[in-house]
Amino acid sequence: MATSSAQIPSEFSNPNLEVLLSEEQIQTRIKELGAEITHDYAGRNPLLIGVLKGACFFMSDLLRAIDTRLGIEFMAISSYGSSTRTSGEVRILKDLDVPVEGRDLIVIEDIVDTGLTLSYLLANLKSRGAASVKLVALLDKYERREREVEIDYLGFKIPDHFVVGYGLDFAERYRNLPFIAVLKNPDLG
Ligand code: IMP
Ligand code: MG
Repeated sequence: MATSSAQIPSEFSNPNLEVLLSEEQIQTRIKELGAEITHDYAGRNPLLIGVLKGACFFMSDLLRAIDTRLGIEFMAISSYGSSTRTSGEVRILKDLDVPVEGRDLIVIEDIVDTGLTLSYLLANLKSRGAASVKLVALLDKYERREREVEIDYLGFKIPDHFVVGYGLDFAERYRNLPFIAVLKNPDLG
């Protein structure tokens, strides 16, 4: 019996998703950010630090749009708070493998929400004697900010909705979407 493609459950056209930023919009903006960073860091050998896991997707596209010598590193961080406490408690789960004294650091994050994670991380990196620390964020959910965070290179400002895709997850699901979507009903997963 022939199976039509309509019977195969598609994650990309899941009816619980409403596209907020298309693949094309994201990739176009990344090219622009890459050009800006190329210009600003020409000849400086910056170290790009990706925050696992969400930022990997954005980072891998962005760094291929930056035409200057650079290095990459990863950190993993867990943050507690936002809903239950106002003071963010942040823990480093995976630290950098190299010293960053004197280096120009560019932290790459998928989304800045309350700002608790990033305000901790940026202060932590500055305290290690980096020459400079800048932040690239794909998304800014500015309405929910609790800590001021300066985003040096921003992809998009977005309204206060829970979004998934292009690295962003809901309980580890949806990271593989090539676009960013609002999760309409989180109870449905
Ligand atoms: P912050 O410390 O509140 O700024 O938290 C930032 C982290 O929360 C991000 O790195 C994401 O992992 C997560 N996060 C915040 N908003 C969303 C969202 O809308 N979708 C998926 N993850 C989110
Ligand atoms: Mg995250």
